[in-house]
Amino acid sequence: MFILNQKNSVANHFLAELRDVTVQKDRMRFRKNLERLGEILAYEISRSLPFSEKTITSPLGEVSTPLLEAQPVVISVLRAAVPFYQGIINFFDRADSGFIGAYRNETHETDLPVTISLNYLAAPDITDKTVILVDPMLATGKSFIKSVQHLLTNGVPRQIEIVSAIAAPEGVDYIRKNLNIPYRIWTGALDEKLNAQSYIIPGLGDAGDLAFGPK
Ligand code: URA
Repeated sequence: MFILNQKNSVANHFLAELRDVTVQKDRMRFRKNLERLGEILAYEISRSLPFSEKTITSPLGEVSTPLLEAQPVVISVLRAAVPFYQGIINFFDRADSGFIGAYRNETHETDLPVTISLNYLAAPDITDKTVILVDPMLATGKSFIKSVQHLLTNGVPRQIEIVSAIAAPEGVDYIRKNLNIPYRIWTGALDEKLNAQSYIIPGLGDAGDLAFGPK
């Protein structure tokens, strides 16, 4: 698993602002920080993808340089992922995209497990592609797993890159137990735990509401 804030960088500032209740009041800044984290994680993911040597002609000569062999397919889990996804496609700027509508079946009973429903899928063929599946909060891991199951109706990918801004250990374990195709997990930070409502502690709150307002 790749955890971005294990090494100090400006990414820690973006994460700190995402969590900070005073900065969270600025919805545009919240979205911008998610986008910036998405860009940094896209850069890190790119360093692990296959490259091959290509020759480019400049006005004054030829340059041989490693370039990505293929663009990934980037899948955004609606709605919270939208700004984070924007950061990823800023860097994978010729990638095909897909969208999945996933929502929690909210319950006020704290001891009931969270269940996830899907209501929308628009995605290209992902056969043999690298798929980057983007959701800012890896909490229970259930929406990621449901999304992958749904996506597999569009082909079997080469590899799935699971990307979040903040992850909980419970979600990481759930993915490890339930994904049996090649995958890697990328996150900005790995937090402590989930609370009784399956929110990440300390986390940042409800990412979708902070980015777009309450439902
Ligand atoms: N979704 C969120 O927006 N926040 C959490 O802490 C968990 C899931």
